[in-house]
Amino acid sequence: MHRREHIPRRAAHAAPERPLWEQWAAESAALPQGERLQKVLATRGWGSRRVCEELIASGRVTVNGDVAVLGRRVDTEHDRVEVDGVPIGVRPGLVYYLLNKPLGVVTTASDPQGRPTVVDLVPAEPRVYPVGRLDVNTSGLLLLTNDGALAQRLTHPSHGVEKEYLVEVAGGAVAQGKLRSLREGIELDDGMTAPAQVSQPTPGVLRITIHEGRNRQVRRMCEAIGHPVERLVRVRIGSLSDRSLKPGEWRELTPAELKALVEAAGSPVGS
Ligand code: URA
Repeated sequence: MHRREHIPRRAAHAAPERPLWEQWAAESAALPQGERLQKVLATRGWGSRRVCEELIASGRVTVNGDVAVLGRRVDTEHDRVEVDGVPIGVRPGLVYYLLNKPLGVVTTASDPQGRPTVVDLVPAEPRVYPVGRLDVNTSGLLLLTNDGALAQRLTHPSHGVEKEYLVEVAGGAVAQGKLRSLREGIELDDGMTAPAQVSQPTPGVLRITIHEGRNRQVRRMCEAIGHPVERLVRVRIGSLSDRSLKPGEWRELTPAELKALVEAAGSPVGS
């Protein structure tokens, strides 16, 4: 007996089936795209996968402004990924060290006289350079990095971030008129200094904040008012300070510190 095969008939108004290649394209578009966020962070130098997972889990990572969840995938070409507000692109291979420079150490990459240099005090790889300089007989905070663009902006006179110094001067208490001169500007052999913040917490000890970076500037300013410097310590660079860092010790900047520094330097890194 002849059996009729049952062929389902399409309802009169059903949409025509999409061609196979179109279905395939739609399915692959629905597959997860991009790389896992923790892998992206780890390859950009934010720590091991585990550390990066913790960063995400603690809510410190955002993708296009939204707090990211573990397992999130990102397309680094198009998505904006930030850790504590710092774009991740800031760090591929870049390092930022805060050093408490001891006395007797020179602020150069190598010294012809063979004296110890600031780069001897931090890891040799990747190679870093000091941002600005401190005299051999000045101690205190110094930034070292291999991020040449940021270093250039930080030292550029138009952006010059604030640098704060504690200064012990010879000659005892400094008269109010001389403090005012330091604040308003002092004539040096390379021109007038810009206005500075100056206070005298105890007689003969000054707290001076400047944003220029001229050679031996604080020493020359104090000499100009007749109070040569006896001890000079840099205690702050922009918003960076750290009283727990002993002379010769260094540490990496935190993402939040880096963000503040990048903002103080004028424009975002990489732009
Ligand atoms: N001003 C100086 O005179 N010396 C330094 O090392 C830093 C600022």
